[in-house]
Amino acid sequence: MTISSSDFDFVRRLAQSVAGFLLEDGKEYLVETRLGPIAKAEGCAHVTELVSRLRWQSQPNLIERVVEALTTNETLFFRDMRPFDHLKRDVFPELFARNLGQPLRVWSAASSTGQEPYSIAMMLVEHFPLQASLVSILGTDLSTEVLERARQARFYESEMQRGLTEDQRRRFFDRVGNEYQLQARIREMVEFRQLNLSTPFQNLPLFDVVLLRNVLIYFDLAGKRSVLSRIKGVLKPGGFLLLGSSETLLGIDDDFLALRDSGTTSYRFGENVGVPAPVAGAATAKSSTHMRAAAPGAPSNAPRMPPMASEPPKKASKSLPPQVARLKDLQWPEWKAPTEDKGSKKP
Ligand SMILES: C[S@@+](CC[C@H](N)C(=O)[O-])C[C@H]1O[C@@H](n2cnc3c(N)ncnc32)[C@H](O)[C@@H]1O
Repeated sequence: MTISSSDFDFVRRLAQSVAGFLLEDGKEYLVETRLGPIAKAEGCAHVTELVSRLRWQSQPNLIERVVEALTTNETLFFRDMRPFDHLKRDVFPELFARNLGQPLRVWSAASSTGQEPYSIAMMLVEHFPLQASLVSILGTDLSTEVLERARQARFYESEMQRGLTEDQRRRFFDRVGNEYQLQARIREMVEFRQLNLSTPFQNLPLFDVVLLRNVLIYFDLAGKRSVLSRIKGVLKPGGFLLLGSSETLLGIDDDFLALRDSGTTSYRFGENVGVPAPVAGAATAKSSTHMRAAAPGAPSNAPRMPPMASEPPKKASKSLPPQVARLKDLQWPEWKAPTEDKGSKKP
């Protein structure tokens, strides 16, 4: 028995209204495969019966399980590598230089089973051993199931083979039976919480870096814009936003400034973005001279991810300095800040 188009349409509308993501035409098979086990567990003869239950009975838990089951959780360690090179070469050197000794916060906003935030934690320990403890990382996802796996931080051989070097496997993981346990010193740098990107964010602090990677692709234009407007509310002025390699903000939100560095694009938002200004200790920031906020934003002085009340959204500056173009005006491959040292740039 195949799911009817009206049932498919109902499930599709449910996913979009609860979590913002779209199920395209032709994904009937996905709905059937993903909802089959839930239907069975609920004692339904077929997915059709489960959908009927969803239609006529108000069962928030069931709705939640169904929507979670429809998410795509594909991820891997150091996915696409270049964004992690960018964090290593440009972003963290600048942030450490600008915030001398101050705590920093990173948010992996669709963290799935944890490979993304754990990759950042490993990179920090590997390359910034003295400053790594200044950084707290938050991983959030809609799906409680992937969050549970992320917290456990136990990975299968097949997952270990995706993105990790031999050296990283040896240094950061311990073998436990057929699985690999990430060591506590890395696990403890990351906190996981459930968060639905399509609803107002609550109890989030401000972040220096937000990774919103490979999740916006599942949202329609209005959904993308609404997530981004909330992201602006939790990104420190001059903070960095990183998207997936096939994602862009062009034509979606031109309040952000797009910058190309270390072969990848990151986005910055807020007052003072792009103002080249001397920063104490900036000599360590190898290729970040082209982009430096003159004044850091809200001070980051909480030692770990705090249970803070939401802070009021920062408004996009409508009067950015002349050398800063908005996203829609940028021809970013050609764009160079006045002080950029071309000799130190990677191709
Ligand atoms: C394809 S994974 C991307 C994981 C990681 N960011 C990466 O790039 O490897 C997308 C994740 O987004 C989560 N997701 C989908 N809709 C969401 C929503 N409305 N709020 C929060 N997370 C969501 C899914 O559960 C899934 O784990």
